[in-house]
Amino acid sequence: MPLDARLKSEFASLWRDAAELWDRHEADAAFEGYVGSDFTAALAVLESYQDRAATFLEWGSGLGVVTIMAARMGFEACGIEVEPELVEWSEWLADKYQADARFACGSFIPDDFTPDPRVGDEFFRTATDSPAGYDQLDRELADFDLVYAYPWPDEHRLFGSIMRRRGGRRSVLIRYDNREGITVRRCGMAKRRQR
Ligand SMILES: C[S@@+](CC[C@H](N)C(=O)[O-])C[C@H]1O[C@@H](n2cnc3c(N)ncnc32)[C@H](O)[C@@H]1O
Repeated sequence: MPLDARLKSEFASLWRDAAELWDRHEADAAFEGYVGSDFTAALAVLESYQDRAATFLEWGSGLGVVTIMAARMGFEACGIEVEPELVEWSEWLADKYQADARFACGSFIPDDFTPDPRVGDEFFRTATDSPAGYDQLDRELADFDLVYAYPWPDEHRLFGSIMRRRGGRRSVLIRYDNREGITVRRCGMAKRRQR
């Protein structure tokens, strides 16, 4: 179903607000690990899942833009972000755009996930010192059909590992990278073999 003009112009305004927040706060400590993804590309992939998925989670949701778009498009949408200041801005934007999006302040790494360095599970810039945010949402990672993430280049394998081992059997990882763009992978299918 193509997006209506009203929603498109609402999203253009949301993207402008996020860009302005970035310009004003770029130097703040809370924004140190934040880089916004390509929201046009994220929107296109959300549109392609509109009739095929119900639940959406953004790992490291930053200013919450992708989660807010997902909520406005009818997904049950949640974001988990470790920086409290970014969560506050996300909630402010969600309120402004009347999005029924929920944000947890915590880590997207499930508490029961143990990285396995033998398969290349290494953390580089993802924060590892906060408890997981899933309980705040009353959800588990496996409850989400779609998981959106913008990993640092060296953490792609790690993000795939978390999904394979803790994601739902049919969950899809949508990954943004500034060189490769969006890639979509159904990680849960390999779950049994790699656990
Ligand atoms: C590259 S930015 C992506 C922002 C947003 N997802 C987007 O695509 O526009 C990564 C975000 O992950 C957050 N982050 C880092 N480690 C995290 C963790 N363990 N749990 C939750 N958020 C984390 C950072 O604070 C930052 O906002």
